[in-house]
Amino acid sequence: MAILELKSLSKFFGHVAAVSDLTLSVKKGEITSLIGPNGAGKTTFYNVVTGKFPPTAGKIFFNGEDITGLPPFKVWEKGISRSFQITNIFKNLTVLENIRTALIVHMGKSLNFFRPVDQYSELHEKSLRVLKLIGLEDRKDTPCHAISHGDMRIVEVGIVLASEPKLIFLDEPTAGMNPTETMRMVNLIKELYEKTSTTFFITEHDMNVVFAISHRIIVLDRGKMLADGTPEEIRNNLEVKKAYLGGLKQ
Ligand SMILES: Nc1ncnc2c1ncn2[C@@H]1O[C@H](COP(=O)(O)OP(=O)(O)OP(=O)(O)O)[C@@H](O)[C@H]1O
Ligand SMILES: [Mg+2]
Repeated sequence: MAILELKSLSKFFGHVAAVSDLTLSVKKGEITSLIGPNGAGKTTFYNVVTGKFPPTAGKIFFNGEDITGLPPFKVWEKGISRSFQITNIFKNLTVLENIRTALIVHMGKSLNFFRPVDQYSELHEKSLRVLKLIGLEDRKDTPCHAISHGDMRIVEVGIVLASEPKLIFLDEPTAGMNPTETMRMVNLIKELYEKTSTTFFITEHDMNVVFAISHRIIVLDRGKMLADGTPEEIRNNLEVKKAYLGGLKQ
């Protein structure tokens, strides 16, 4: 069953077609990777689907519902949560506080702002549960400016998870990571996928990561879909090899 469907989706910046006439569907319960060279339109794809920019043309359906043009907060409320290509956390807050802040937003409507947050046992338990899922319990009281880059990116995944989304978008979760940190992130994504059975949609430049974790791979080139298939199909696709994979480590 499709959790996300795009019909002839386009996004133009002036004359640049960052996303051009994309029609695709994302299956529920799968890890789909979106790959393509720099400037292919991957981040724009996320920005349009998550409501940062309205599309120039086309439609977006989430669980069968038309969400085209909804603002980011509404898209998030529907159950799509994203991380960003560039690290995006509160560096002066601790790991736990970052997760808790995300949860407060998620549970926001039922909170009383005149009560200290640590008196909310549900909030505290949920924060600890997210921390456990991402394996950072031992860093919970460390301010985020004092943790490693790899840990910061993992905190971002925790923030994404806090809203218990149905569909998770991760934009280059291993950007700037060394090989050890990359392996840790890949294992975490696999583990989260197994534990939460959430649908993941990931953008990634490291082809080892892409082929290791994806059920399905979509290849973009200058805003257009070049290919859509299983890792095996993509590996053997001549057009993809010519346009993209040939120049990359595999
Ligand atoms: N806010 C914007 N305003 C104008 N042009 C933009 C904007 N965002 C993206 N673009 C242009 O759209 C095209 C696609 O960019 P995008 O960032 O989506 O690519 P990408 O695949 O994420 O690249 P990368 O791998 O470098 O992250 C590029 O030509 C880029 O310059
Ligand atoms: Mg990008």
